Amino acid sequence: MWKPPERIKHALPEATWPSPAEAEGSRCFSPIEIGPVRLEERTWVPAMVPWRATDDGFVTPEVLAWYERFAAGRPGALVVEATGIRDVPSGPLLRIGHDRFLPGLRELAATVRRASGGHTRLFIQIIDFLSIRRRPEPARFLQRYLAITDRHRRLLGADLSDEAIRQQLLDLPADRLAEVLDARELEALQFGARERVTDVDQPHIRELPQVLPGLFADAAQRAKQAGFDGVELHYAHAYTMASFLSALNDRSDGYGGSRRGRIRLPLEVYRQVRRTVGPDFVVGCRFLTDDCLTDGSTVDDACVFGVELARAGMDFLSLSRGGKFEDAKQPKIGRAVYPYTGPSGYECMPTAISDTQGPFGRNLSAAGAVTAAVRGAGCTTPIVVSGGLCTFEQAEGILERGEADVIGAARQSLADPDWFRKMRLGRGAEIRRCIYTNYCEGLDQMHKQVTCQLWDRLDLEEPDVQRSLDGKRRLTPPRWSEHDS
Ligand SMILES: Cc1cc2nc3c(=O)[nH]c(=O)nc-3n(C[C@H](O)[C@H](O)[C@H](O)COP(=O)(O)O)c2cc1C
Ligand code: SF4
Repeated sequence: MWKPPERIKHALPEATWPSPAEAEGSRCFSPIEIGPVRLEERTWVPAMVPWRATDDGFVTPEVLAWYERFAAGRPGALVVEATGIRDVPSGPLLRIGHDRFLPGLRELAATVRRASGGHTRLFIQIIDFLSIRRRPEPARFLQRYLAITDRHRRLLGADLSDEAIRQQLLDLPADRLAEVLDARELEALQFGARERVTDVDQPHIRELPQVLPGLFADAAQRAKQAGFDGVELHYAHAYTMASFLSALNDRSDGYGGSRRGRIRLPLEVYRQVRRTVGPDFVVGCRFLTDDCLTDGSTVDDACVFGVELARAGMDFLSLSRGGKFEDAKQPKIGRAVYPYTGPSGYECMPTAISDTQGPFGRNLSAAGAVTAAVRGAGCTTPIVVSGGLCTFEQAEGILERGEADVIGAARQSLADPDWFRKMRLGRGAEIRRCIYTNYCEGLDQMHKQVTCQLWDRLDLEEPDVQRSLDGKRRLTPPRWSEHDS
């Protein structure tokens, strides 16, 4: 993963954990209404893909155990990982694009309800993404995949056959090859071909605005049938909907260019979802306070989008930042580019090795600006923030200053899914604190089952411990009970 050049090692923020009485009287442990449901406390586990679904997208016993373990910590809300809305193969990522996925998703919702004693509200993040190919072997790319065009003929010889052009390309030194290929061809060679929402010459991309509202609405309806409390529309990071919002979206068909054009599809998706699921089901979205890219959207865009999304009727807005393909690291041959490997990826999941600002609460000032804009427009829509949040003081400060209404903690909850509960019970000293090394994110990057370095080798011999495919790591943290001393 990319790291800021300063490479300053930051200690964890000092923590004074609350007594039970302090927790009871705190903002963090006070309830909040999210549209038609109430969270018992303002604690939130954001979506995290754990790579435990079957290759065809079904819920497995390992998926159930993963969410059961988070639910045992009784956060106010738990968001199930990014789940694909299309009925197309997408590897071991959960899917919700067909009714055949319903039985597994029903079991998942029932498992969380049981394990949290009904205390945790359960949402599922629903996502669309475009196709991305692995970085090809160069000779294979030039001999087979590259389409020979007039540009190549013009630069290499108008009368040459395709075969002869391919041979010339193979023989060219790298700097000359970079001149002969156009920018997209060069990207396909160096990173793997990646579709963009701006590829409107492709009918299936041009028609995204016609297709996506229905796909999202059907997925949300299935989530409702499966017993979830709501859906989080994934409008963040490197995926389709975030790409519509991005300032890099220059579509000229009314769905790009100006802020009004860029937010048009996200609003149309929301409206169709709402029409389909009705008012008694939570519909919110996750989007970016900042693309964290040169020429990408900034916090000024996010303030406008936040107001529009809130006015449209979203039940919550969850704020993340960065996580883009555009500045990602070149993958090895045979691997696909991963959106969390560049500077924008760092902003999304910052590590303890950082710049002077450090990794803790890096999204707060932008989140505060979005919240202020939403409130300024007269909307009370609850706002969730995440990014390096791991202490009671941080949580109380954010809520007191009004930077957000709900505290999201992904990696701290992976390190210790009971951490909110331990705080609430006055047992903060027992919290296993995330050290922000991104070992978990490294596993995610390799599409390996995600675990945490702080617990994945502990008590491996315990009965019924589920292990990773290589047998070396446990897949869920050891149990903790408030009755343990
Ligand atoms: C292993 C892993 C998987 C993730 N998967 C998702 C995902 O499916 N959807 C999403 O919006 N964010 C995802 N994220 C980002 C987190 O939700 C969160 O925004 C990020 O980790 C920063 O919050 P934190 O500092 O509390 O960890 C993932 C993060 C990790 C570590
Ligand atoms: S592996 Fe564990 S300690 Fe390391 S960043 Fe991930 S959750 Fe935190």
